[in-house]
Amino acid sequence: MMRLGKMINYRAFGILSLSTKSHNYSTSKLNYSTISNHKTSSELGIMMEAKIAPSMLSSDFANLASEAERMLTFGADWLHMDIMDGHFVPNLTIGAPVIESLRKHTKAYLDCHLMVTNPLDYVDQFGKAGASGFTFHVEVSKDNWPELVKRIKSKGMRPGVALKPGTPVEEVFPLLEGEHPVEMVLVMTVEPGFGGQKFMPDMMNKVRTLREKYPTLDIEVDGGLGPSTIDAAATAGANCIVAGSSVFGAPEPAQVISLLRTSVNKAQKTC
Ligand code: DX5
Ligand code: ZN
Repeated sequence: MMRLGKMINYRAFGILSLSTKSHNYSTSKLNYSTISNHKTSSELGIMMEAKIAPSMLSSDFANLASEAERMLTFGADWLHMDIMDGHFVPNLTIGAPVIESLRKHTKAYLDCHLMVTNPLDYVDQFGKAGASGFTFHVEVSKDNWPELVKRIKSKGMRPGVALKPGTPVEEVFPLLEGEHPVEMVLVMTVEPGFGGQKFMPDMMNKVRTLREKYPTLDIEVDGGLGPSTIDAAATAGANCIVAGSSVFGAPEPAQVISLLRTSVNKAQKTC
């Protein structure tokens, strides 16, 4: 029996799950490279839990609290919050004050995706505001990621790293193998900055590479995910699914959320 960090609920052929349903996340001490570099998830008897995260970028920002509640009622696991600084990406959205306001209305896991040039500058304020996950971009963190990850954990948030479509997947490997590894990799499947773009299937090679190398890693995909693209992402090994326009634009968002989950669960049984 392999040994995993204590926050992991491991059962033979059960679901590998971290305590991320609510925002009270305690970071776990994981070193993904020690688990296995050779066996697939199913050979290891592991099923990664599906996390469906509607992107609140597609919500009505004027009614953020009720939109969040609506998504949770429809079956969302996480709420994906897109933070854009108008510099790293050509769009400006929300910051820590909005997270703080939303936190007063929900206990949900707030999966914050920081598309900002200086993520370190925002760690303290997002921690204080009640963010649950803090995912920064590798393209702007090459020099200071160990410090960044340590700081994120010290503020009670779960560290993740994101990569843009043009960034090779190898660039995140060091962040998964150091003393303070990130706990999720977000593979962008569109150019960051805007919702409603077309899914880039070529990015699935990155997901496959990550899943083969790190069978127990949370792998998130973001951009253009919906009923017509989920199977490609799920069979490649993604288990955390961000979906904006396909969920908010659907006549019955609950059905889309359920379909996304079914696809991930089905793929996890076989991959
Ligand atoms: C894009 C954002 C995404 C976006 C996804 O920069 O990171 O989270 O909102 O939206 P859809 O699902 O519409 O592509
Ligand atoms: Zn995002």
